[in-house]
Amino acid sequence: MISLSVKHGHVLPFVSEDEIRIFEREIKLHRDHIYHKSGKGSEFLGWVDLPENTEADLLENIESDARRIRKQSDAVVVVGIGGSYLGSRAVIEALSCSFPGENGTAHPKIIFAGHHLDEDYLHELLQWLDNRTYSIIVISKSGTTTEPALAFRLLRRHLEKKAGKKEAARRIFAITDASKGALKKLADSQGYATYTIPDDVGGRYSVLTPVGLLPIAVAGFDIRELMEGARRMAVHLRNNEALADNPAALYAVIRNVLLNKGMSTEIMASYNPAMQYMIEWWKQLFGESEGKEGKGIFPAGVVFTTDLHSMGQYIQEGQRHLFETVLTIGKSKHTLEIPEDPDDDDGLNYLAGKRISYVNRMASGGTMLAHVDGGVPNIELILPELNAAGLGELIYFYEMACALSGYMLGVNPFDQPGVEAYKRNMFALLEKPGFEEAGKALKKRL
Ligand code: PA5
Repeated sequence: MISLSVKHGHVLPFVSEDEIRIFEREIKLHRDHIYHKSGKGSEFLGWVDLPENTEADLLENIESDARRIRKQSDAVVVVGIGGSYLGSRAVIEALSCSFPGENGTAHPKIIFAGHHLDEDYLHELLQWLDNRTYSIIVISKSGTTTEPALAFRLLRRHLEKKAGKKEAARRIFAITDASKGALKKLADSQGYATYTIPDDVGGRYSVLTPVGLLPIAVAGFDIRELMEGARRMAVHLRNNEALADNPAALYAVIRNVLLNKGMSTEIMASYNPAMQYMIEWWKQLFGESEGKEGKGIFPAGVVFTTDLHSMGQYIQEGQRHLFETVLTIGKSKHTLEIPEDPDDDDGLNYLAGKRISYVNRMASGGTMLAHVDGGVPNIELILPELNAAGLGELIYFYEMACALSGYMLGVNPFDQPGVEAYKRNMFALLEKPGFEEAGKALKKRL
């Protein structure tokens, strides 16, 4: 099971055990609000029970559709933005092989669209799809988000032209609200297979619903293992109230203690590039959940050692408002030893016989100590192995930690009112019906 390490030398010089212990009672209250569904945003606490309450029938349907999609497609385009794509992308990228066509690589190829408005990307995607047999999974809880709606319109037209309307309808899967939104209306009228996003699960907490599970299953990964890992973590966190035994609560407390000492930016660091999108998902989860009412810890992400050659200088010696959480993978999937070289021209023979993962571990250890010495507290989150079950544990751990941390901050961790501001302005500038007057005023300011 994943564990949280707050070693004396790494966190405790910055935070005393008493400063942590003082929050035992407060955490108990927040846990009650979560488990009894009585806190702020309680109408969005459906994620708490997903690992234990997801019906076997739903998993079977997802697996059966995934088999059909895999059989009928060279590529699958997953259309969605924010919580509607980051979770599946995080899991798929973490579990896939780094190079196409090798063992463990997702087949069919999974492509993401609808998560930005780049014309060149969409043009090149449509061109690439000209010569491919493909399916579409379109995901939007509201069913009205502009980015995925536009991408879906283009993709749907492309697929209908290529395969015919009837065949296109067989190749399109919609994941949306049970009754509301344009996507639901469209799916019903066109006869697309649909999955429902439960009313009480918000976008960024939806990876363990069909939103994440269908694309992950299509990529060929085991969604039952993922759910089993999440279930194990859910049971562990529910049964262990004491901070010392509850890593999600301990993580939430330490972050807030550090914030109160002026450390307002958290950097999630991984030494495994496969975790890059897991970090992106984490950024969205914590950024959208906590950043409101002038509060919140700014979530940033780095992949080391790559970013030690870009962000390392700042982390070591820049403004001291940072703390780091290092997401360590305990064991590599493969073994690669450094060979002996008879000439040793590159001076690396001192590493001969050692594994690359050993060098990576020493880089991680050395960096943690350097950053701690430079005034940056380091929490370590250890995932023993990179597999579906471990990712399930990690996802649930982060979700619970985020909810607790948001409650500690005093915000509603399940809404995102601030996301509307850019949408209103964009609609006004685009002269969407109903926004014309606001558009005139905004255009003068551009
Ligand atoms: O977490 C959230 O609620 C958001 O990030 C949404 O997932 C994102 O805005 C996409 O919304 P929708 O699924 O309604 O298209």
